[in-house]
Amino acid sequence: MSIASTPPSFHRRPWLHAVPDRLPAVVRADLVPTLSGDHLDHANLDHAASTPALQRVARAVETASATYSSVHRGTGWLSRVTSAHYEAAREEVARFVGAREDDLVVFTRNTTDSLNLLARALPRDTDVVVFSSEHHATLLPWRARDTHRLPVPATPADAEALLEDALRHLPRGTARRPRQALVVLTAASNVTGELWPVERLTTVAKRHGARVVLDAAQSAAHRVIDLGALGVDWVAFSGHKVHAPYGTGVLAGRRDWLDAARPYLAGGGATAAVSERGTRWTTGAARHEAGSPNVLGAVALAAACATIREHRAVIADHEERLTEALLTGLRAVDGVTTYSLFGEDHERGPVVTFTVEGLDSHLVAAALSAEHGIGVRAGKFCAHLLVDALLEEDDADLPHATAVRASAGLATTEEHVERLVRAVAQLAAEGPGAEYVEVEGEGWVPVDDPRELDPALPW
Ligand code: ALA
Repeated sequence: MSIASTPPSFHRRPWLHAVPDRLPAVVRADLVPTLSGDHLDHANLDHAASTPALQRVARAVETASATYSSVHRGTGWLSRVTSAHYEAAREEVARFVGAREDDLVVFTRNTTDSLNLLARALPRDTDVVVFSSEHHATLLPWRARDTHRLPVPATPADAEALLEDALRHLPRGTARRPRQALVVLTAASNVTGELWPVERLTTVAKRHGARVVLDAAQSAAHRVIDLGALGVDWVAFSGHKVHAPYGTGVLAGRRDWLDAARPYLAGGGATAAVSERGTRWTTGAARHEAGSPNVLGAVALAAACATIREHRAVIADHEERLTEALLTGLRAVDGVTTYSLFGEDHERGPVVTFTVEGLDSHLVAAALSAEHGIGVRAGKFCAHLLVDALLEEDDADLPHATAVRASAGLATTEEHVERLVRAVAQLAAEGPGAEYVEVEGEGWVPVDDPRELDPALPW
């Protein structure tokens, strides 16, 4: 067996299996304490930020740990086993994103890392077109001089028109110095959960000869990604948002710009030859994976991809029910405003961002946790321009102009959503059930909190 030299063959095996009818299980936390002294099942409504490990993922990490050794660097049997695990993980991720035969799958730390890698790999004179509504990981990595920011669109058609106009007016290169263009898109908003019209926008991009990178951080756990079918050039996502929180992300897609670019990190594994006269860098994924890779993270990511792929239908069904319950429940509460970019009925994943009239969003989130055992996120969700645009329209006087985000997933139950809606209704009607004070560096904290945060250390 020649592991290191075996090229991945992404489409080799037909994956036939029975359709599972039960949700894959996540590793669940113990009960969480509340101010009243009760202990409640933690209502996880913060999946858009991070997701708990699937049980199958945790088991895969444990199994791979038992044979863990160096990757592509040792001749020992365990090195060969570990190297095989690493390359099989690459194949599984390729399958998960519908990679084309010649695409690369580069393991990174997370989506931010993946997009920064691509930003460093852009050929000179590449114009980047990106909507202002993007998450900061998608908005900020690109060189300012060549970046064209489009306004936050009001509708999918508006997004298409803005992109068409921007691409039409990009500076023209010369025969000697041709210019390239990259369109940066998101698959689903981390603020509103809404799905972006990726197919339509990719068609526009292709018409103008531009390439497309897709930030799938918020959609990978919920919707199929198919690079080949979409005609998208690269996709990026993170393990920690697909129930594999072990420090690995991915950039998958076209190899030409990646092979031509300077290595993302200079170091061992990225080299073909090193002498006193200079360094010749290797090509392929290894060029951008210098240093000993995070094999267990890659194994975790692959286990998550395989599990999600096998359970698509049942996951979709679960999330559809939760999304509907979140939307109808929160929209029915007096004093609550929910937000959307493309209109209330636009298709979305299980994410709802809202404000409660007269209450600071951080206070709402603190009370949901302390009094009801509910985990959400409050703030601007690393998408400041989008949150500013959404809130200004509806509620300019809101303190700090921030919002609360409830995001459901595999660790969320219908009881969690019911508890959230009840708690938000109570907050909107009566305010918090305890006294809170804003403490610098900590945010809102209960004045009288009998709970000691003294978790047993996991090591
Ligand atoms: N990007 C993550 C979020 O939206 C962290 O919360």
